[in-house]
Amino acid sequence: MLTKIKNIFIVLLLVLVITQFLRPEKNEGSYDSIASFEEATGVSAEVKTILQNNCYDCHSNTTRYPWYMQVSPVSHWMAYHIEEGKEHFSVSEWEFYTDKQKDRKLEELIEEVEGKEMPLQSYTWIHGELPNQDAEKLMSWAKELREKQKEVKKDTLDPKEPNTAETDSLSTDDSAQ
Ligand code: HEC
Repeated sequence: MLTKIKNIFIVLLLVLVITQFLRPEKNEGSYDSIASFEEATGVSAEVKTILQNNCYDCHSNTTRYPWYMQVSPVSHWMAYHIEEGKEHFSVSEWEFYTDKQKDRKLEELIEEVEGKEMPLQSYTWIHGELPNQDAEKLMSWAKELREKQKEVKKDTLDPKEPNTAETDSLSTDDSAQ
């Protein structure tokens, strides 16, 4: 019995040692894409810090890698979550989202943070919880941004001075031919 346990233990240890060499590719893009998201959304320094500390690791092209994230199996587990997280929502892709998608992402963000679904629980075990007051700040930023984006959209859909000059000159050209 004892040798059996010992054998299992040795196999597990071997697996652990071998997987250390199977390093998943790191998510280490430049901060530029995040910076344009931050500029476009007008995050305050405070909200920026909250996002950096709790969300960007899985929702941008730039993950921070403290030593424990580089050790298997944590490294593999993290790589999987980064891939999945980015697929659902990536601030690095923000400029490519349509207005509708942006609004939907912000809506989801509010829902996820409110329901304490985000950050992922397995992540907060290691990194610590998102404090309630930070969650509140994040949600009010997202709510304000949704309102702002709605106003911008209204303005572009409903211009105060419709520009008819261009179509007029086009039709004159047509009749001249
Ligand atoms: C450890 C990685 C990780 C961290 C950290 C993390 N997320 Fe996520 N997030 C995911 C994964 C994986 C998904 C997709 C699966 C799911 O919804 O559970 C996701 C999904 C989402 C979605 C999209 C939900 C949908 O319905 O498509 C939003 C929005 C989101 N996260 C916001 C956040 C915010 C805001 C933070 C920080 C407060 C955060 N996440 C932190 C991994 C993470």
